[in-house]
Amino acid sequence: MKRSEKGSGRPLGIIIVGASGDLAQRKIVPALFALYCQGFLPRDFHVYGLARTPMTHEEFRARLMMHLTCRYVPGESCAARMAEFLGRCYYSAGQYGSVDAYLDLFQMMRGIEGRQAVDRIFYMAVPPSIFMQVARALGDSGLVACGSRKEWSRVVIEKPFGRDRASSDQLVQEMGKVFTEEFTYRIDHYLGKEIVQNLMVLRFANLVFEPIWNREFVDSIHITWKEPVGVGLRGGYFDSFGILRDVMQNHLLQILALLAMEKPGDYSSAAVRDAKVSLLRCIPPPALDEVCVGQYAASPKGPAYKGEPSVPCDSLTATYAAALLRIRNPRWDGVPVFLDAGKAMNERINEVRMRFKGVPGNIFGGQVGELPANELVIRIQPDEAITMKVMNKTPGLDLKLEKTELNLRYQTAFKEEIPDAYECLLLDVIEGDRNLFIRSDELAAAWDVFTPVLHELESRRIQPEAYPFGGGMPEAAFGLARRNGLSAVQG
Ligand code: BG6
Repeated sequence: MKRSEKGSGRPLGIIIVGASGDLAQRKIVPALFALYCQGFLPRDFHVYGLARTPMTHEEFRARLMMHLTCRYVPGESCAARMAEFLGRCYYSAGQYGSVDAYLDLFQMMRGIEGRQAVDRIFYMAVPPSIFMQVARALGDSGLVACGSRKEWSRVVIEKPFGRDRASSDQLVQEMGKVFTEEFTYRIDHYLGKEIVQNLMVLRFANLVFEPIWNREFVDSIHITWKEPVGVGLRGGYFDSFGILRDVMQNHLLQILALLAMEKPGDYSSAAVRDAKVSLLRCIPPPALDEVCVGQYAASPKGPAYKGEPSVPCDSLTATYAAALLRIRNPRWDGVPVFLDAGKAMNERINEVRMRFKGVPGNIFGGQVGELPANELVIRIQPDEAITMKVMNKTPGLDLKLEKTELNLRYQTAFKEEIPDAYECLLLDVIEGDRNLFIRSDELAAAWDVFTPVLHELESRRIQPEAYPFGGGMPEAAFGLARRNGLSAVQG
């Protein structure tokens, strides 16, 4: 769908709380610059950073500049565009939970914008543990306009939203006192990735997939996510969440929801999110023996998880997890869904593998033996691609069958630049499109899938299986896959 007319719209103030941090400087501001270069920000916009570190506007701009790229304005004009953009970025230092900090910020904004009505985006680029403090202080400072005035205030928060169903519900309720659901944008940045957005198009803008997208034809689904790096300097954060909360409960479950949901009535955010919620509610929580956990150990490729900065030496936090899920609905009942996610693994990959059932009545049997099953592989990253594995006759006088690929590789098929997920999501926030954001009932349904097993893993103090830094899937995960008929799962 076409984006709004470029450069139009009311004045906009984007307030980044936690502006000295990594998320703000490496993701949010570069994405805003990319939107600016393409003309997607209103003519009258400003970016305001708030954090605890004392800094001048100039120092703040110098920090931001280090992460801006000339992707959309190559050549000489890039420096000028950067200078224009940075000239609209301002900084104010203050404590996150202090009303005074926001009143000072407001004074500064008034000085820059005057008394006109300004729409505002509050981006909470701070740890989830202080979302509430920030929201309360913002509310008390009178800076938030949710429906009461003609300008709007939208809040953007990033997962993890809570640690389980109860804490997530509490967060939703408390935040709701300041920002109502309509103005709350919960980001799962995987929903902004190009191929994830394409899942619905692939399924619902093509005739050929729908008839085979069900238990009659699909043998199993595997969604895998691996990173070759460890937690590095994020050990403090990671240790209190672990891979199930950091990646599986959100990124992978969202991919599954889009892959497996029923066709929504239309493309509106209400209909799409209704369809996702219905799907998530059909997934019973996995039992303890349907989940396995691992933790990376030292190898020549990197340190042990327990040796990373800020990680306790007796940590039981999982850096790898695999889970077997079932979807109890007429479309998917009986099709095993295997999710796995790991840090410090042997490669960087995120892909979906949908394996189809074997071909009945193989007429080539005598010559080729068992026919391998077809597979649809959707590679989200890196090197975005959609591949269908099919049997084909090898050219020649003999009848020789070979497994080949129908391959749509984005790099060769499209000349367009693939935008960063944050560019797309921030533009959606500006335009008020909530399709790619997590609604509160969707969040609750996603927590319901994993909360019981998370509690059980923690209360029983289950020891994760050690795997070497840079190694493949832990042995227990292979066992789980094999026991449940997913023989094709690869490490
Ligand atoms: C984040 C997780 O949500 O996604 C990180 O907290 C992970 O642990 C990151 O590294 C991966 O994002 P991307 O876009 O680089 O695949």
